[in-house]
Amino acid sequence: MKKIVIALDGYSSCGKSTTAKLVAAELGYAYIDTGAMYRAVTLYFLQHHVSLTNPKEVKDALDQIEVEFHYNPKTARNEVYLNGLNVEDEIRKMYISNQVSEVSVVPEVRHAMVAQQQKMGKKRGVVMDGRDIGTAVFPDAEVKVFMTADVDTRARRRQEELLEKKQLVNLDEIRENLKKRDHIDSTRKESPLRRADDAHLLDTSHMTIDEQVEFVMNKVTSKI
Ligand code: C5P
Repeated sequence: MKKIVIALDGYSSCGKSTTAKLVAAELGYAYIDTGAMYRAVTLYFLQHHVSLTNPKEVKDALDQIEVEFHYNPKTARNEVYLNGLNVEDEIRKMYISNQVSEVSVVPEVRHAMVAQQQKMGKKRGVVMDGRDIGTAVFPDAEVKVFMTADVDTRARRRQEELLEKKQLVNLDEIRENLKKRDHIDSTRKESPLRRADDAHLLDTSHMTIDEQVEFVMNKVTSKI
């Protein structure tokens, strides 16, 4: 069977990662959560007080960073490691969500992450979710889906996810964070969040996860 690249892009908390994980499991593909990579870089930058406006500081910091994914059989998921340390839980916290879009704007950061993502998907057989996968990382992806949902639904979903991790965050705070990130992500100069011309639009506001997976799998079947 032919191995392809599946690109799932879209706004924050639309169900991209849950859908991507299930599609990858169904196909036996690797799942790459590119948002986790930007989050890990943000964690490092905050820990080391890297100035985003100083290109040399940014470049030196990027040279010190290694972001990897390792499968954890206990949680049955790929978890993210920063310089050998598991940071899966830390990078999901609100203080990272509040800074990650500012870090993701920096061209040097994007160049480094995009190059690494292209390497990870070189052999194809990957499901990648993010903001610029279908437009910048793999413009030749065989299947591209652009996911959206209304902001209140997204905020409620995000709140539930955080609660599962024992983080109690106010709904208004989450909604404001989503709106802020969407704005920065879609207006930045370098590879902004936008629907690729050949991406299928998927509004998940009133969809179950199973329906989302089915939508993507229907697009995949004709390509493999
Ligand atoms: O997917 P997630 O919400 O974890 O992504 C966190 C942030 O990382 C996004 O809001 C965006 O600023 C950045 N990001 C990006 N490009 C990607 C994936 C994520 O700029 N491909």
